[in-house]
Amino acid sequence: MNKIQEPKAAIGQAIDRVEGRLKVTGRAKYASEFPVEGVVYAQGLNSTVAKGRITRIDTAEAERQPGVMKVITHQNALKLATPDEKLLKLDTKAIAPVLQSPEIHWYGEFVGVVVAETFEQAQHAARLVKFEYEKDEHRTEYKDAGEDDSYAPSEDMQHRRGDVEAGMAKADARVEVTYRTPVEHHHPMELHAVIAEWDGEKLKVYMPAQMVNDATIGISDTFQIPKENVHVISPFLGGGFGSKLQAQEHVMLGAMAAKMVDRPVQLTVTRQQMFTNTGLRQENFQRMQLGATRDGKLTALVHDTLSHTSTEKEYQEPCGAASKMLYQAPNARITHRLVPINLPYPWAMRAPGEATGAYALECALDELAWKLNMDPVELRIINDTQVDPSNDKPFSSRLLNECLRIGAKRFGWDERPKEPRSRREGNWLVGYGVSSASRAAPLQKSAAKIILERDGDNLQATVQTDATDIGTGSYTIIAQTAADYLGLPVERVAVELGNSDFPTSAGSGGSWGAASFTNGVRSACLNITDTLVTLAGHDSTQGDDLVTLMKKADLTRHEAEGSASPTEEFDDYSVYSFGANFAEVWVDADTGMSRLKRILSVGSAGTILNPKTAYSQVLGGLVMGLGMTFMEQSKVEPNHGNFITRSLSDYHVPVNLDLADIQVVFLPEEDKIANPMGVKGIGELGIVGVASALANAVFNATGKRMRDLPITPEKLIATELEPGLARK
Ligand code: MOS
Repeated sequence: MNKIQEPKAAIGQAIDRVEGRLKVTGRAKYASEFPVEGVVYAQGLNSTVAKGRITRIDTAEAERQPGVMKVITHQNALKLATPDEKLLKLDTKAIAPVLQSPEIHWYGEFVGVVVAETFEQAQHAARLVKFEYEKDEHRTEYKDAGEDDSYAPSEDMQHRRGDVEAGMAKADARVEVTYRTPVEHHHPMELHAVIAEWDGEKLKVYMPAQMVNDATIGISDTFQIPKENVHVISPFLGGGFGSKLQAQEHVMLGAMAAKMVDRPVQLTVTRQQMFTNTGLRQENFQRMQLGATRDGKLTALVHDTLSHTSTEKEYQEPCGAASKMLYQAPNARITHRLVPINLPYPWAMRAPGEATGAYALECALDELAWKLNMDPVELRIINDTQVDPSNDKPFSSRLLNECLRIGAKRFGWDERPKEPRSRREGNWLVGYGVSSASRAAPLQKSAAKIILERDGDNLQATVQTDATDIGTGSYTIIAQTAADYLGLPVERVAVELGNSDFPTSAGSGGSWGAASFTNGVRSACLNITDTLVTLAGHDSTQGDDLVTLMKKADLTRHEAEGSASPTEEFDDYSVYSFGANFAEVWVDADTGMSRLKRILSVGSAGTILNPKTAYSQVLGGLVMGLGMTFMEQSKVEPNHGNFITRSLSDYHVPVNLDLADIQVVFLPEEDKIANPMGVKGIGELGIVGVASALANAVFNATGKRMRDLPITPEKLIATELEPGLARK
């Protein structure tokens, strides 16, 4: 294809969400809202032991209740595909067998489902099904696990370069500390839900799916039916954060129930079940070792992560992902190890690896800067690299130092208290903190179809792709893209998403959505223009718009597909978005209560398609990072192995009153290696580094190193001043 002039009329404009009106008027349909005729309701049942097996089930009383159609347990469940190996490796296409055996692997595992005519009848009867268990000793703790009690999940999670021991020996200053992050849960506002409807061997599934195509694969593989027989519909999602990347067990429960009662079945996962049945961010123990010369050059970097997985499903968030590539450390070792325990399976949660990993890395750098008596911004700048040290590939574009410098200036970093615990405002201790952020900016194959309909001189375009809008603004940026590449106003473009009948896209995940969808749509637009040129008998558009070309070709309707894939050039580079966070935190000197006062995020992520939706994305990441720092944690009661945080009244997330002055800035950046439109992801970048900027600000305010998230008042009060400080 010839080099084309990339248009930018609608692209880059802060236009309102094109689907906004549908949402605020309640006309945007979420999975559980589809009016499916004859629908009945299912309620999942959960185990009340963490390990063992079901020995007896009494369904009689439940079955006697009015409206109850069926109680399904492992004794009468449909046979589903089961994994070939003991540990099922989780990915976005994974099968999700459920009710296939009496064995229990974690507290809250699905052990049955009740189907009834109404939601209330199903809920009522669910309480009356009785299970008896033979209990085995369970394990939910693992922090002291050693080499023989843990395993390395895969070789590509381990990285070594240079000679770490030699690097540490050369260092003038060293940091050796362990950081802990707790179990967190995704908790999108929209509960997981499914409506499943069979028509013979064909299955229609309404569900919130971040990746529609992969959901059809997971479902068809689990039921062992052809993929073409599974139709997934997911036009709107009320958040996902990773928890809706794949079809999980509740989807299979709903579909199984629908098959067995021969009616469409709706199953909504309760908020309590979202602690036990839809994935979690695992607890991580991250051991960091940094060594540096007097002038701040890193001589060695070690990042060893110990995490847990479930005893039958495997996932590990790559906490060392940023440590591997962010700084020019010639000697490095990045390892990840897992211990299988009796907790629900872990799964990707917003910036899996980077969000938690950057907390360890960027706090350790702050500790190093303190030891070197160096400005933490300067320490980061000194260790910048334009070549990815993990694979020796140049970065396609890396403006990290610019983010740090410009951010420092805008934030007023030179006003930072030079000594920790040296600034007070009344009873508040005031501190500043900084962190870097990085997140891979992948492009995944993504296709789209454009339909043009001409009525006289009026042209209407419709874009169809199975891409999803998880609250991020996909509808809007796709409309902007199609408008520009078709030469139409945005109002003339309709966007239809989230349907497996549409061309396969990358789906929303891993910060690849926006870049992949829009480049796929661009490609479809270029194709439709090319084919119209040919049909009109031209060699080029000759300056004609699409209406004129369609008239010349005597067409009132025309459609074409197109798709984007990473270029070959892409593989020769490391492609990332970068950012820097600057935060001011106030800590009450007596109660240890922390408050975010202001935060500035400076990002470089290539073309910003829509500054308004992009701002919202990063804002959401910052707020989630705020929750990660001071609030979010899922606590396990070790004797029973269950989560005792079971609702949003004890699993705390930030509310408006917790927020502060939040500023988001994107630097202009052109990155044509990333993809033709130069778009790089921001869905996850916003949360990366937030916890460290805040924890570093807490240190600057209080002189206390908080190495265990969340930073709660009781932990702050119990933590001693840093030794160097206490001596002063
Ligand atoms: Mo993301 S954790 O790939 O939604």
